[in-house]
Amino acid sequence: MRIFLDTANIEHIRHAARLGIISGVTTNPSLVAKEGAIDFKTAVLEICSIVPGPISVEASSLEVQGMLEEARRLSSWAPNIVVKIPVSEAGLEAISVLSKENIKTNFTLCFSANQALLGALVGATYVSPFVGRLDDVGHQGMEVVADAVEIFKKYNLPTQVIAASIRHPLHIIAAAKAGAHVATVPYNVLMQMIHHPLTDIGIARFAEDWNRVIKQR
Ligand code: G3P
Repeated sequence: MRIFLDTANIEHIRHAARLGIISGVTTNPSLVAKEGAIDFKTAVLEICSIVPGPISVEASSLEVQGMLEEARRLSSWAPNIVVKIPVSEAGLEAISVLSKENIKTNFTLCFSANQALLGALVGATYVSPFVGRLDDVGHQGMEVVADAVEIFKKYNLPTQVIAASIRHPLHIIAAAKAGAHVATVPYNVLMQMIHHPLTDIGIARFAEDWNRVIKQR
């Protein structure tokens, strides 16, 4: 399973890229808005230059023609741009056109295996089940990931499943076990994956012993 970073924060993307962990980035309008008054195109191009892998950028239009125009424009900015299109009738129609134009898409705001299957049938490059938001309303979000993976495998559908709306490290383990192709992870959760109190205690104790005994020899 590959790990993408779910953010529009340039410093966080730079840091995660330096660590060598991430192979893509996903953004959405809320994540972009969180960064304040940034120039959208400049920010997207900077992200594309930092991470050579897929960079998901969301289309804002809600009707087919608008989605098509936006997707063509966004995808012309850089070869690694993936256009996020929300699950909807218009979204399905748009993706069925865009897939024939070889424009990469991410079928987003996916909350059921049926929606994921439809996305795959119209040729979406990725589908993104929102695990955390389903958990929030009392559903097992990861079941959608597992079901989509199983169905795509069964019918040799090339669409990849991105476990999105990840809230904590256990989600990532569950996504990997469910066979997700990608988990897109917020920066704080990525840091939680790295750090463990016992590792920190172990490093401190080894350093202490080194300085106390070994260094004096
Ligand atoms: O990639 C989609 C994801 O950002 C949604 O996450 O935490 O807003 O549910 P969240």
